[in-house]
Amino acid sequence: MMGAMGLYEKYLLPKLLNMAMKSPDMTRIREQLVPLAGGKVLELGVGSGLNLPFYRAGTKVTGVDPSLELQAYAREVAHKHRVDVEFVAQSAESLDFADNSFDSVVVTWTLCTIPDPAAALAEVRRVLKPSGKLIFAEHGQAPEPHVVKWQNRINPVWRHVGGGCNLNRRPDETMTQTGFTFDDLATGYITGPKWATYTYQGVARIA
Ligand SMILES: C[S@@+](CC[C@H](N)C(=O)[O-])C[C@H]1O[C@@H](n2cnc3c(N)ncnc32)[C@H](O)[C@@H]1O
Repeated sequence: MMGAMGLYEKYLLPKLLNMAMKSPDMTRIREQLVPLAGGKVLELGVGSGLNLPFYRAGTKVTGVDPSLELQAYAREVAHKHRVDVEFVAQSAESLDFADNSFDSVVVTWTLCTIPDPAAALAEVRRVLKPSGKLIFAEHGQAPEPHVVKWQNRINPVWRHVGGGCNLNRRPDETMTQTGFTFDDLATGYITGPKWATYTYQGVARIA
């Protein structure tokens, strides 16, 4: 029988995530970044499909996410906005795609949650064509030590209720360490509590 946490993660969390990820600031960032993707696109952690309306017409998207509950939301969005998406229930750390097979990879608010983000980025590096783009928007560690102190304190509880989301990661450092370089990297707070809203967004390439 499913315990309370299992029920929460299966039924309530997908609904909460779909609602929480729709803030006006997040939507504005999606609107800015997602149209930069072109050619054959891989979206990691496609979730409830909130990026899908912003792909340019005709873009072919492969959407990876282990959550079938979120995928059900995303399928509705894809249908409504007529986006060509192939949904795949895989983990980003171990992708079942050939080397050099995508022109763009999109990842938004997901490297916080993927259990091993370095392994996922190593996979991105493998499946991305040498000239390909990694388009990203992630929240993570804030620049001020007093905010970081709170992020570290809150993290164990947050991770538990937030489907594995971590507040204190450095997506920019993990990208550099896994062999990416930035065409564009912007950082700053979006609206909301400081411990959850310091954002890293931009475009990276294979170094
Ligand atoms: C906070 S949600 C963000 C969803 C979506 N990218 C967005 O911008 O709204 C985090 C997503 O990461 C997905 N996720 C968790 N572990 C993953 C993994 N190992 N590989 C790929 N996606 C994963 C979750 O299922 C969830 O859809």
